[in-house]
Amino acid sequence: MSEIIRFGVSLEKNLLQRFDRLIRGKKYTNRSEAIRDLIRQEMVKKEWEEGGEVAGAVTFIYDHHKRDLLNRIMDLQHDYQKIIISTQHIHLDHDNCLEIVAVRGVAKEVLELADALKALKGVRNGTLSMTGTGKETK
Ligand code: NI
Repeated sequence: MSEIIRFGVSLEKNLLQRFDRLIRGKKYTNRSEAIRDLIRQEMVKKEWEEGGEVAGAVTFIYDHHKRDLLNRIMDLQHDYQKIIISTQHIHLDHDNCLEIVAVRGVAKEVLELADALKALKGVRNGTLSMTGTGKETK
């Protein structure tokens, strides 16, 4: 772990009060941790925007009785196997399956795969959780 440096931040009282309310709502125990996370989020955003190596997870729900859809999901995952680290399949109930696809690769390809999965007819609640590879955000 690298050296910790303390620095002062000046801002308007109103803004600080609103920030404190915001981070209390998010269960942060102190401002430092909240500010660290904000900085990390911005760095992750930059990695995604600049098209560098990123990591994330595509999460979605679908009806497994639709065999055609099942095949399409599988085909896509084989097409993008180079950026897929792992896939977790959870049988939610009699009809619904939840799938979590962990990905790592060039931002453009990760976004392509996420969009393609979300666009499949029958795939619901598709979300892409974008994170970094951890290298830039220690
Ligand atoms: Ni299932």
